[in-house]
Amino acid sequence: MSDARVGQLQRLYDITGAQLAAFPSRAIGVLGVAGGNGLDLINPATTDAVYGYDINADYLAACEARYRDGLGERLHLIESSIDRTLAIERVDLLIANLIIEYVGAEEFAAFAAANAGAIGVLSCVIQRNDTAGFVSSTEYAASFDALATVSSDVDPETLDSALAAGGFAALGRYEYPLPNGKTLIRQDFRPS
Ligand SMILES: C[S@@+](CC[C@H](N)C(=O)[O-])C[C@H]1O[C@@H](n2cnc3c(N)ncnc32)[C@H](O)[C@@H]1O
Repeated sequence: MSDARVGQLQRLYDITGAQLAAFPSRAIGVLGVAGGNGLDLINPATTDAVYGYDINADYLAACEARYRDGLGERLHLIESSIDRTLAIERVDLLIANLIIEYVGAEEFAAFAAANAGAIGVLSCVIQRNDTAGFVSSTEYAASFDALATVSSDVDPETLDSALAAGGFAALGRYEYPLPNGKTLIRQDFRPS
């Protein structure tokens, strides 16, 4: 695994910790959960349910192997495409880190609008490439592409507007620069 990928995973892990700390939640959803990066930061004593969604069954199997022991029956892994037809379980916090690039801002906002009643806070991370294209320069992203649609950059203002049109108010924005010239941007929203 390249240093850049390890660094990005670690940064996402840290951001997941910040999202969990900012919004203490008994029910947590993770869109594009992949192998479950950061799920070990969830405190089973204060959490009733964790729902992980991903299109890739192999990633979900890895997630199951890693986190079933720690989270027990709280962990629910759902193989699904994330789009406007998906109805999620009610969660206090819904984390969507590096998934909107695959789903597309418009479809993601349609998904969020369709599920607004089931979402307490929606905390998203998108990636801004200050130097080059998302897929071509990112071994990390490319390694996730097998079943997914091709990823493409999402502009934070576009995400703001799409979610505002879907009935979500922005709560805050945080930037996390990476050493390789990219920046991870976290945007938090609440149904308004
Ligand atoms: C870059 S990874 C997510 C990283 C992860 N959230 C983290 O914090 O490390 C993108 C994930 O989204 C999943 N994915 C891509 N397109 C999807 C779609 N349309 N529906 C559901 N999952 C999708 C991929 O299988 C992959 O596991």
